[in-house]
Amino acid sequence: MKLFLDTANVTEIREAAALGVISGVTTNPTLIAKEGRDFKETILEITKIVDGPISAEVVSLDAQGMIKEAIEIASWHPNIVIKIPMIWEGLKAVKELSNKGIKTNVTLVFSPSQALLAAQAGATYVSPFIGRFTDISQDGIALISDIVDIFTLHDIKTKIIAASIRTPMDVVNAAKAGADIATVPYKVLEQMVKHPMTDIGVQRFLEDWKKVPKK
Ligand code: E4P
Repeated sequence: MKLFLDTANVTEIREAAALGVISGVTTNPTLIAKEGRDFKETILEITKIVDGPISAEVVSLDAQGMIKEAIEIASWHPNIVIKIPMIWEGLKAVKELSNKGIKTNVTLVFSPSQALLAAQAGATYVSPFIGRFTDISQDGIALISDIVDIFTLHDIKTKIIAASIRTPMDVVNAAKAGADIATVPYKVLEQMVKHPMTDIGVQRFLEDWKKVPKK
């Protein structure tokens, strides 16, 4: 399973990219707004840091508006993937964009039937949201698992991005369920690196090293 970073913060993206573990980036209007910067400028800076799929979301609610925005955004850089909300008009937009060879990431997916529709419309990626589903007492990992089963059974090529990740265990469980990608917030990436036994081990090695006779 690959890892994408779920942020529009270029400092975080630069730091995570230096680890060599990130193959793409996902953003959304909330993450863009949080940075207080111009949308295009931010996305273009991200494309310079990570050489992989960069998701940028449209905000229109009608298919024609989404397609117009998508064509403009996709023209900024070849790695850009257009994020489209999983609504009726969104499916129409995905179909048109897919015909034009523009890659799409259907977002706000909360059911296997939505994922199936997005895939049939031609989505490159679907993003089922684990955390927001778990927030309402639903099983986010079972959602990923069901979509994986359906896509595998029917040889559907659309890639599954486990989104709305809140903890390192969400990442592990998404990997076990068979997601193609997990898009993780920077904080979760930091938590994934840390283990108290590793810190204790490093400390003990350093202390023992002091006891080695030096010539
Ligand atoms: C993914 O593409 C979404 O932008 C993101 O994972 C949403 O996460 P949240 O539920 O923590 O806002």
